[in-house]
Amino acid sequence: MPIEIGTILVVDDEPEMRALVRDVLQERGHQVTLAENGREALKRLGEGDYGVVLSDLRMRGMEGIELLTEVKRGYPDTNVILMTAFGSVETAVEAMKEGACDYLVKPVKTEELIRVTEKAVHEAALRREVNRLRREVRTEYSFHQILGKSKAMQEVFDLIRRVADSPTNVLITGESGTGKELVAKAIHYNSERRDAPFVPVNCAAIPDTLLESELFGHVKGAFTDARSDKRGLFEEAQKGTLLLDEISELPLMLQAKLLRVIQEREVRRVGSTRAVPVDVRIMAATNVLLAEEVKAKRFREDLFYRLNVIEIRMPPLRDRREDIPLLVEAFLRKCAAASHKEVRGMTESALALLIDYPWPGNVRELENVIERAVTLARGEKIVLQDLPPNVQGARGERKVIDEGADRILPLQEIEREYILRILEKTGGNKYQAAQMLGIDRKTLYRKLAEIKEKGGHP
Ligand SMILES: Nc1ncnc2c1ncn2[C@@H]1O[C@H](COP(=O)(O)OP(=O)(O)OP(=O)(O)O)[C@@H](O)[C@H]1O
Ligand SMILES: [Mg+2]
Repeated sequence: MPIEIGTILVVDDEPEMRALVRDVLQERGHQVTLAENGREALKRLGEGDYGVVLSDLRMRGMEGIELLTEVKRGYPDTNVILMTAFGSVETAVEAMKEGACDYLVKPVKTEELIRVTEKAVHEAALRREVNRLRREVRTEYSFHQILGKSKAMQEVFDLIRRVADSPTNVLITGESGTGKELVAKAIHYNSERRDAPFVPVNCAAIPDTLLESELFGHVKGAFTDARSDKRGLFEEAQKGTLLLDEISELPLMLQAKLLRVIQEREVRRVGSTRAVPVDVRIMAATNVLLAEEVKAKRFREDLFYRLNVIEIRMPPLRDRREDIPLLVEAFLRKCAAASHKEVRGMTESALALLIDYPWPGNVRELENVIERAVTLARGEKIVLQDLPPNVQGARGERKVIDEGADRILPLQEIEREYILRILEKTGGNKYQAAQMLGIDRKTLYRKLAEIKEKGGHP
């Protein structure tokens, strides 16, 4: 018995040859499928999963070489062996150049057939395994450009997969910069609607007076500036997905209209009475607590429940710090490539600082910090000094404030503590300390003199 059982497609226009090869290989325990020409072979390849294609070189219709090219293009993990009549070995050599893994000369000897085929089976299996691992490494911690290895993010990925193909409305909540729009996109491109448009609209960015006609469209003459008919974003998103970003900013009057659109699945352009049917999946995103808005009567309760069938909560970055190194690595590579700089990593102390920082602006802020650092970096590695002052200062700042939790410290004392800490951190380098503190050197000297006067210890 062979080491590995192969799935082998045998292609030859001579029935006796097909049968012979099949018998030999089946005897060895392999799964063999037969095709009498190139076209049939391609059809079989589309239906099944083959490790090896064993094909005659000269066939009516499609030549073996043509088939080889097609297989290499459509099924790069499949190995192709070509069988050639004695005397056309040059063509076989040509075939090897085109990507065939081996060739057999007819009349084919049984042992040779077994040896060459099983080697190809083995290689194909190996290659598949390697590719599978590679794909896993690439995708395990990333989902449609969203990176995250934390449990919280893995749960988000899982939820995205589960809601993607349902028609449910989804509400995505989370602080600014946590990736709400990315999630909306991932849901869209993972759903059956992927070939139709994904249309994001930021309700906060469009003046209230324009928002209605932006969303629902208008007809010519509906208002002064309406010089022609215009489709609204709902119609633009037909069969696709509409993301209503910053939904809390939607005026109450439009909330009522939106509710009606969701219920009736049709829109009326401003100035028209004609209803246009729309098939659009609606997602909404918000970084405020919509339930609070409902309580305060700024957001309609009925609309809230319509939109919030499923909520995806994006965790803030400070609650999933294990994702930070992964994100840093990805952003670093992206920024370095974009700016053609040979920045390959960062010092441990710089990374430690990033892991410690509270990230009020979440992933967006981290991305900006890395972009800035790559721009400033002088060497192959990003160092502490390449990080913005607020990030560099964060550690000391928090400590000083934590320590003073049960005793309010005068601002001057906090400043003193802070300056001394930073100075300690720079090993007494006043130039660096001033930079980190975001003040000029003269100011630092003056402050140090004051501290000395009051009995400090610089
Ligand atoms: N998990 C993540 N992996 C990779 N990139 C991310 C991730 N989360 C966010 N980003 C990136 O951070 C930036 C902000 O993301 P996005 O616009 O989706 O956030 P948001 O929650 O919609 O923010 P806002 O509330 O400010 O609109 C984008 O450049 C996005 O690519
Ligand atoms: Mg957004």
